[in-house]
Amino acid sequence: MTIDLKKYVATVPDYPEPGVMFRDISPLMSDGEAYRYATDQLVDYARSKNVDMVVGPEARGFIVGCPVAYELGIGFAPARKEGKLPRETVKATYDLEYGQSALYLHKDAIKPGQRVLVTDDLLATGGTIGATIDLVEDLGGIVVGTAFIIELKDLHGRDKIKDYDIFSLMEF
Ligand code: PRP
Ligand code: ADE
Repeated sequence: MTIDLKKYVATVPDYPEPGVMFRDISPLMSDGEAYRYATDQLVDYARSKNVDMVVGPEARGFIVGCPVAYELGIGFAPARKEGKLPRETVKATYDLEYGQSALYLHKDAIKPGQRVLVTDDLLATGGTIGATIDLVEDLGGIVVGTAFIIELKDLHGRDKIKDYDIFSLMEF
């Protein structure tokens, strides 16, 4: 069975600010078959990379990464925004399509040498995924792949992470 996942992405012009075409994956998550179909493809990709651990940035990276980790029976580490992780952390700052931010991982989230898949819903400028990769590498993890539901080609996020393998389910 093939599902055209693009049909499950809602496009909202000028959100959250003028000029941004927001690609909303919530219709995809609301549909059990579409969510599973998308997740299964990400799981197949993760299997092909012999992944030990999945890392995803807050918040939509959790929605994408957690079911992959669950299916593979491996761990998931959340890369979180300011003031959310209670123990010792590493930090990486980054620019967004709209704004600036920082992400953190607990220092014991990744063991040196672990093969890590970094997941998110969407690759835009690549700032978020770049910061998440920096955090994993800071802890000695090996980023063996990055996986997204959506890649926004015009924002050239792929150029920012050109040394890494990139898997996405659709492009806009
Ligand atoms: C969105 C999206 C990605 C990121 C992509 O997250 O979920 O993480 O932006 O943009 P980039 O490639 O330009 O960095 P956002 O920061 O809006 O946070 P959210 O997941 O909490 O909504
Ligand atoms: N995150 C960054 N840019 C985005 C966009 N255009 N749509 C949805 N999420 C985003």
